[in-house]
Amino acid sequence: MPLFAPLRMPIKRRMQTGAVLVWISGIIYMLGIFVFLCTFKALRPLIIIYLLWAFMLDRGPERGARPVKWYRNWIGWKHFAQYFPMTLVKEGELDPSKNYIFGYHPHGIISLGAFCTFGTEGLHFSKRFPGIKPQLLTLHANFQVPLYREMVMAHGCASVSKASCEHILRSGEGCSVVIVVGGAQESLSTRPGTLNLTLKKRLGFCKLALVNGASLVPTLAFGENELYEVYTAQPKSLMYKIQQFTKRTMGFTMPVFNGRGVFNYEFGLLPRRKPVYIVVGKPIHVDKVENPTIEQMQKLQSIYIDEVLSIWERYKDKYAAGRTQELCIIE
Ligand SMILES: *[C@@H]1O[C@H](CO)[C@@H](O)[C@H](O)[C@H]1NC(C)=O
Repeated sequence: MPLFAPLRMPIKRRMQTGAVLVWISGIIYMLGIFVFLCTFKALRPLIIIYLLWAFMLDRGPERGARPVKWYRNWIGWKHFAQYFPMTLVKEGELDPSKNYIFGYHPHGIISLGAFCTFGTEGLHFSKRFPGIKPQLLTLHANFQVPLYREMVMAHGCASVSKASCEHILRSGEGCSVVIVVGGAQESLSTRPGTLNLTLKKRLGFCKLALVNGASLVPTLAFGENELYEVYTAQPKSLMYKIQQFTKRTMGFTMPVFNGRGVFNYEFGLLPRRKPVYIVVGKPIHVDKVENPTIEQMQKLQSIYIDEVLSIWERYKDKYAAGRTQELCIIE
């Protein structure tokens, strides 16, 4: 592959790159716009009102966010999906009168597959699963960045807290949540060619399913781990300690990663153009239990893990042909 992108690039590919940039650099330009607006003295009272509202009054992140239909339907998200390209693979039907908890694996660097599938209509989710309204859940830190938080909520992304999950699951037929179960810890295992999942210690999503009688839908994304190069922090190294420290104190961490740039193929924040297949498995029916015991949660978790493994077995030779390791459930 050449080092630099050719100057004469088909317009279609430019639009795909543009759409990916809209999302990837969202936090940067939304903050930039905010800082720019702050330079106007006349706007300061408005900005102060906005900040007070956003940080003291607005319960949006806990109350189902504010999905904006036309924005989720924006044609740019179709280009976004075509950049990789991403494909949504459907294993079964979902009943629109029920509520679901989708578990998405792996986290990868920034869960681009989860974003495109559930945070936008880039893969025509509402046509493939009529009546199901998924809301992608994310860390509270995302709602603490002025203006960017509004962008995130327009995608329908809500906070991953218990109150937020229960609010969504109880807000009507088809209302569903998407949890990237492995979270920040799993992002540290992102490596091309591998699929190490953080799942054994995770019981919270099983408890949520039991308490709400919501079916679990295992979702496995082949290719999510291929989108960036990742530098390995050896255990005990300084980088490893910094990552563990930021995870403990701030609740999130970032692996040191690299993708490509707009004009070059070697360095930058853009993901590589590698296909991603998002397999939405068959739902696992869960009966409602008011106060589930640890044993009940563990039993459901093991059924869930078996289902994830069987999805892997069914598709690995087709969608993970270049793998260097089998799927591992590491912790
Ligand atoms: C994935 O897990 C396997 C088995 O525990 C381990 O040998 C490997 O180093 C892990 N890979 C990554 C990238 O964490």
